[in-house]
Amino acid sequence: MCGIVGYTGPRQAYPIVLKGLKRLEYRGYDSSGVALLHNGKLNVYKKKGKVAELEEYVIGKDLDSGIGIGHTRWATHGEPSDRNAHPHTSSNGRFAMIHNGIIENYAQLKTELQKKGYQFTSDTDTEVLLNFVEDIQNNNNCTLEEALRIALKRVSGAYCILIIDSNDPETIIAARKGSPLVIGIGKGEHFLASDASPIIEYTKEVVYVNDYELAIVKPDELILKNLGNEKVTPYITKLDMELAAIEKGGYDHFMLKEIFEQPSTIYDCLRGRLDADAGTITMGGIDQHISQLINANRIMIIACGTSWHAGLVAEYIIEELCRIPVEVEYASEFRYRNPIVNKGDVIIAISQSGETADTLVALEKAKENGAFIFGVVNAVGSSISRISHAGAYTHAGPEIGVASTKAFTGQLAVLMLMALKMAFVKETISKERYKQLLIELQDVPEKVDAILKNSESIKTIAEAYKNATDFLFLGRGYNFPIALEGALKLKEISYIHAEGYPAAEMKHGPIALVDEKLPVVFIATKDSYHEKIVSNMQEIKARKGKIISIITEGDVISPTLSNHVFSIPPADEVIAPILSVVPLQLLSYYVGVSKGIDVDKPRNLAKSVTVE
Ligand code: AGP
Ligand code: GLU
Repeated sequence: MCGIVGYTGPRQAYPIVLKGLKRLEYRGYDSSGVALLHNGKLNVYKKKGKVAELEEYVIGKDLDSGIGIGHTRWATHGEPSDRNAHPHTSSNGRFAMIHNGIIENYAQLKTELQKKGYQFTSDTDTEVLLNFVEDIQNNNNCTLEEALRIALKRVSGAYCILIIDSNDPETIIAARKGSPLVIGIGKGEHFLASDASPIIEYTKEVVYVNDYELAIVKPDELILKNLGNEKVTPYITKLDMELAAIEKGGYDHFMLKEIFEQPSTIYDCLRGRLDADAGTITMGGIDQHISQLINANRIMIIACGTSWHAGLVAEYIIEELCRIPVEVEYASEFRYRNPIVNKGDVIIAISQSGETADTLVALEKAKENGAFIFGVVNAVGSSISRISHAGAYTHAGPEIGVASTKAFTGQLAVLMLMALKMAFVKETISKERYKQLLIELQDVPEKVDAILKNSESIKTIAEAYKNATDFLFLGRGYNFPIALEGALKLKEISYIHAEGYPAAEMKHGPIALVDEKLPVVFIATKDSYHEKIVSNMQEIKARKGKIISIITEGDVISPTLSNHVFSIPPADEVIAPILSVVPLQLLSYYVGVSKGIDVDKPRNLAKSVTVE
């Protein structure tokens, strides 16, 4: 992971790079740094901690420069420290480099370089790559560009790198493989970044650099080449994102803003696709490939984290409505085992960022085996969306808070649309039920809005349990993945240990944890499992656990067993997960905030995990 920013042009680079780093901080915040060039002198400033620490540190320093690169780090090699912060400078002091990714064969290269007398000032793989480039450049007496090309042919792993040369006050050289890079095209200036958010206020014209491409970027020139030194024509696309979408808009945190945006993001996701009155679902990616989808021998869903939870909900829905076997795989497991993937299998890849390294590599592997890849992605133009054969965007807009919220409900909405459309064409659903579910789905934004209006009562529950050391989240059926998601959210942003479990499975082990101190959250909306989950509540109550229940309005039994209840509007069990997750997002948010945690940037995490 990590965020990368670069600028070359007539303006002062530092303010642009710094602002960009703040926008990209969600990608990592172990340290940050900038490299600037003034009268042939490289000025490199870096600091452990968040970008604000760097901002303070550089006060009074020489920041004058029309070229600059900046980095906000999520450490892989070497602890978070000033020393390991990027940019790194080459041994001769001529080049500065920032890097997102991992150079896997760095140890071998480091030994080779050490034998030649190179000394290292950091523990990073990045410094090794940079000195390797310097060494090639010295030996071959070639240009930086040539040296970099030779070096990249010898490295394995993933990278997006930007390098500046103190002998060249105008040029940034960039290269990528496996980590994202966008170049914004201005008038006589260029902007480089890991995603479009640092660029959007300056230009909407961008080029997404592809793997194995090298960019030579000057204020008024952008040259793209492949590693074989052949020119590649840059493909310019227009961003359709607005600046307001990446700002907090009056909320205390991005996470809260994103939770409250859900009525409109779900509406945006359904708009133009779902017409309940006409009984139609129109989705280009699905319509064009419908026979492949409904005739799949098997569907495999590949994802990580919250996106994996969306995949689990989809498994229940697709198997129920479409009668197609579904398997849900952790991308990180799939990529290293020897999975059986046959022609005729459909892979659904789910990802908010579209850049998750584990998911990306798993998909490449499945693609090699002939699988058809359908991407359910939020970030438009991201790597996963581009390697998919077809797909549907979730249209949730930029998600900045590290904890995924609106992207998750967007994923559920897309997957529900997809399952319904497939079931309808495959005729595995009755016309009446299809129609009823379309109406229910159409009503979701309004129901989410109603849930959010009651957010204060969740705040009260959060206050009561903020000092708990453990939490258990239990759900059955369609709500079982929501129990997992509730536990993940709480862990991420409150640092409270939490486990999600199928409610009935709890008696096979976790019940031993229950005592009068343990809060147990039941996702117990009215569905075909309701009586069963009420029995599970009895089991917890009998052992004096504290019960917090998410129930359907009008349920009179669950409140008699619960210490706290939060009611949500009635919904069909297929649709319920998209509603029942919302109070759990709020619960984790309020617990995190009341513990004084920076919920948008919780420790050790990063938004987009572009390393394995
Ligand atoms: C969500 O709250 C997490 N931060 C994380 O689990 C995330 O869902 C996971 O890293 C997958 O990311 P993606 O959807 O961008 O691929
Ligand atoms: N591997 C590099 C490091 O640990 C880069 C990590 C990143 O992507 O931030 O410094």
